[in-house]
Amino acid sequence: MNDRTRSATSGAPAVRRVTRRGFIGAVVAAGTVGPQSTQAAVRRAAQTSRAGATKTPALLGGTPVRRTPFPSWPVADAREEDALVRVIRSGRWNRGDNVAAFESAYASLTGAKHCLATANGTSALITSLGSLGIGPGDEVIVPPYTFVATINTVLLMRALPVFVDTDIDTFQMDARKVERAVTGNTKLILPVHLGGSAADLDTILEIGRRRGITVVEDACQAHLAEWRGRKVGTYGKTGCFSFQASKNLNSGEGGAILTDDEALIEACYRFHNNSRGRRNTGDDFSYRSIGANLRLTEFQAALLTAQMTRLQEQARTRDANAAHLTQRLGEIPGITPARMYAGCTRNAYHLYMFRYDASRFAGLPRAAFIKALAAEGIPAQGGYSPLNKEPFLDDAFSAPGFRSIYSKARMDTWREQNQCPQNDRLCTEAIWLVQTMLLGPRQDMEDIAEAVRKVQATAPQLVKTTAER
Ligand SMILES: Cc1ncc(COP(=O)(O)O)c(C=O)c1O
Repeated sequence: MNDRTRSATSGAPAVRRVTRRGFIGAVVAAGTVGPQSTQAAVRRAAQTSRAGATKTPALLGGTPVRRTPFPSWPVADAREEDALVRVIRSGRWNRGDNVAAFESAYASLTGAKHCLATANGTSALITSLGSLGIGPGDEVIVPPYTFVATINTVLLMRALPVFVDTDIDTFQMDARKVERAVTGNTKLILPVHLGGSAADLDTILEIGRRRGITVVEDACQAHLAEWRGRKVGTYGKTGCFSFQASKNLNSGEGGAILTDDEALIEACYRFHNNSRGRRNTGDDFSYRSIGANLRLTEFQAALLTAQMTRLQEQARTRDANAAHLTQRLGEIPGITPARMYAGCTRNAYHLYMFRYDASRFAGLPRAAFIKALAAEGIPAQGGYSPLNKEPFLDDAFSAPGFRSIYSKARMDTWREQNQCPQNDRLCTEAIWLVQTMLLGPRQDMEDIAEAVRKVQATAPQLVKTTAER
């Protein structure tokens, strides 16, 4: 039994008494200067009273704020079913017309000149780095706050990932710290548009231009996100996307590379096709470089084309709900929603991220906060752990292959400089809500905020009970 089912089955009757005196008192205390602020004060007072009146946290047997599940994922109907049946009946299941049609649709959606579909986001990154010639001895600047695939891609090229600390306000790579990580061997900067927001592209691209370093965007979480009105993934030498099952655009597994460079897209094509060109005959069949089979299938492309019919509308729903949630959560002491850079003109909200300050919740540890929220019917996660401190990195670096490439002196310096204190802190404070939670009605946002307020109001009880157990 998990927390949610436990809270749903052990609930005491709802206690939602709001006394008139308490209600008006709270309104007066909030101060009213005009009709809008009066309304806001009334709403806040009602909410505060409601949360406060429900004295027992669901985790301790009280009534949960919410019993309804959030929208499920994936969303599919006859569009997906018909598309898949058509592929089955076509007799062509490997890369063909559906993949080509998807590539052209995704390129025009994003404004990129070229798109190459790949088996997944990891292969989009591998294909990009492989085609750009990133290899042994090269250094790649990466954020520590990302999915491990970003780092694995670098390691698979036998290149050295050099971590740059996180900007704790935005959860993105701290672009102000990128330049000090550059050495004579830096060949690539690999920012991630984390959670669907955007990394500070102005600063990163400027450093890249000035220092002659290529930039590749890991936009695996950032479908339709924009920087200064233009889609992310179209700024770097390439932009890489994932269509893995949890993503805002989903074909179970899948990926894509965007670029404006025609020669590069042909190199990527070869790389992802075991180094063969598009025509599969004559000169195009010759092997010119190393490569792998990282192709997308017709089934996945057909699914993506069907899924794209809902993409914009889903993005608009997430956007509106996220804006509302940011307003509500921003009113709660100790909760700090992730800030967006001014240049981020559209956030994909693959994740809704905020920071949790336990000191404003009677010292309730983050893990207990997450458990209490889950009991109230709000599933949340703590997010990534510090990737730059992962023991697997040391294992990788002590393998004979790596030792023959990177001197002991270089690795000693790497270890010395591999400090990301802001990221360490973020990894203890972050809370994530997944994108599907933003796809329902506005009331869902009110429920999330109410649950957080309730946990805050009842935090002393939760802390006491945890201590007694
Ligand atoms: C930031 C980031 N980079 C890379 C990837 C890898 O994509 P995939 O899982 O499709 O290989 C993901 C996917 O979760 C991701 O979130």
